[in-house]
Amino acid sequence: FRVLRFIWRLTWLSTLGGAAYLAYHIYDSKHPPEQLPLDPTKKTLVVLGSGWGSISLLKKLDTEDYNVVVISPRNFFLFTPLLPSCTTGTIEHRSIMEPLRHIIRHKKRAVKYYEAEATKIDVDRRVVKINDFSDVKGNVSETEVPFDYLVVGVGAENATFGIPGVKENACFLKEIGDAQQIRKKVMDCIETATFKDQTEEEKDRLLHMVVVGGGPTGIEFAAELQDFFEEDLRKWVPDIADRFKVTLVEALPNVLPMFSKALIDYTEKTFKDENITVRTKTMVKKVTDKNIEVEATQPDGSKVKENINYGLLVWATGNAVRSVVRDLMGQIPAQKNSRRGLAVNDYLVVDGTDGIWALGDCSATKYAPTAQVASQQGNFLARLFNSMAKTQAVEEELRSLDARLQASTDDAEKTLLTAEINAKGRSLSKVKQLSPFQYSHQGSLAYIGADRAVADLNWFGGAISSATGGELTYLFWRSAYVSMVFSLRNRILVLTDWLKTKTFGRDVSRE
Ligand code: FAD
Ligand code: NAI
Repeated sequence: FRVLRFIWRLTWLSTLGGAAYLAYHIYDSKHPPEQLPLDPTKKTLVVLGSGWGSISLLKKLDTEDYNVVVISPRNFFLFTPLLPSCTTGTIEHRSIMEPLRHIIRHKKRAVKYYEAEATKIDVDRRVVKINDFSDVKGNVSETEVPFDYLVVGVGAENATFGIPGVKENACFLKEIGDAQQIRKKVMDCIETATFKDQTEEEKDRLLHMVVVGGGPTGIEFAAELQDFFEEDLRKWVPDIADRFKVTLVEALPNVLPMFSKALIDYTEKTFKDENITVRTKTMVKKVTDKNIEVEATQPDGSKVKENINYGLLVWATGNAVRSVVRDLMGQIPAQKNSRRGLAVNDYLVVDGTDGIWALGDCSATKYAPTAQVASQQGNFLARLFNSMAKTQAVEEELRSLDARLQASTDDAEKTLLTAEINAKGRSLSKVKQLSPFQYSHQGSLAYIGADRAVADLNWFGGAISSATGGELTYLFWRSAYVSMVFSLRNRILVLTDWLKTKTFGRDVSRE
């Protein structure tokens, strides 16, 4: 009986503790404290971008030590791993956006934010030229921002490899606007296919959803789209049930090249069971408004050209370097051999520069361009800047102690000052000792549809690795991502969206 009473009390206590924790976080998120004003004696640190790299840096940076200026055309952080779920309304787009204003308002010292694109980084003059390309413009929409230190975290743009017609006709999947456009277009294709007197051939074209690129973006999108069809569209628009078709086109012999062979096979089999057609060894060469021209490699090695009609085309073939980064690389001779982005050293300093760092998808490192890498680099740079500020503070103290020592004539005071200088010197060498950036790969996860996911995971710093796929992995995928989304607010929104989708299904309205 006593044991039962103890368990009862423990349950109550943990519930109360949980409620208090929740209440504190909600109160704290709504009541940011007063901030220190900008300080002209501090160095100006300009951060470009509000993505995984830059926001991870900002989160951990002690802004008391710097005047921080953030420049990005996007005034929010986007949790990209759940972006494919927004294309079908499994998750609403605002649930995975965290306003930048919330983030910077919680920092110790005020952080300036300019909604603009950096269009040129002038290395010699140490200024960034910025342009406001948003719809609403004031008298000034172009100016320059000087910097002492600069962190470039502008990400990458969509690769099209110069294939004609891609930019004009395909949808991409990188930003919130892309997901919204896809969601609208899927429904538009469906409603147009069911238009009175629509021809049979046109119905087939309109209901053919083609995804180019068998990397994780293409796979996750194709999976979400087929789920949408099976769980909702089939029921609400029965006329399309026999025609709706998803095809994934990939140039390489298999999809998901970063996953282990067993998980690649499992994904391809799951797609087959879900009726998603996978066309491997098929390269898109040209795109028009209604079809793609592909070159398929046959088992005997010969190549065959083919036209595939589509209603919706989603292009997910990886990353390309942004123009502002290309321009910066062009100014620095040490970058002349770099192709994939800014070459950086072990401390993420842009090769050939002083006081300029780069992180995430815009940098060229030996790691894959993932959120995992960008966020670890952001955390590293925060530690680096915090340690640089401490070093500078100790060096200043040392200079002043040394000046006092030189001026002193009192032996006792000299002994005390010498001891203090030695102690400060020891602490200086400690803060200076920051080891280079080292990436710790936690593994790869991807949703493959029908409540299944694949996971190649590393445990205990890579000592143990596991490759799993299926429904349990999907539960792990969900819990991992919900624990990673930016804030408690986002977490609650994502969980509510999942519950809403399970209970009522997805919304099939076009807007
Ligand atoms: P981004 O997060 O892309 O941020 C770049 C920022 O720079 C943005 O705020 C942008 O607005 C801003 N910017 C752009 N141009 C300029 C300019 N000229 N001046 C100033 N600012 C500018 N990775 C994973 O590890 N796991 C996943 O599950 C995963 N899922 C993904 C799903 C999708 C659909 C996509 C597209 C990517 C996914 N990734 C995932 C990859 C991951 O999102 C990227 O590697 C990561 O976003 C890179 O971070 P970043 O900070 O370099 O760039
Ligand atoms: P990707 O670079 O991983 O894959 C693109 C695919 O497109 C390649 O397999 C390539 O062979 C194919 N391709 C290129 N040109 C083609 C053509 N003309 N015709 C047919 N196929 C063509 O790109 P993705 O998926 O956009 O991912 C970008 C980065 O983001 C990667 O580093 C990826 O790991 C990361 N990411 C990770 C996710 C996860 O971990 N779940 C989810 C989404 C992205």
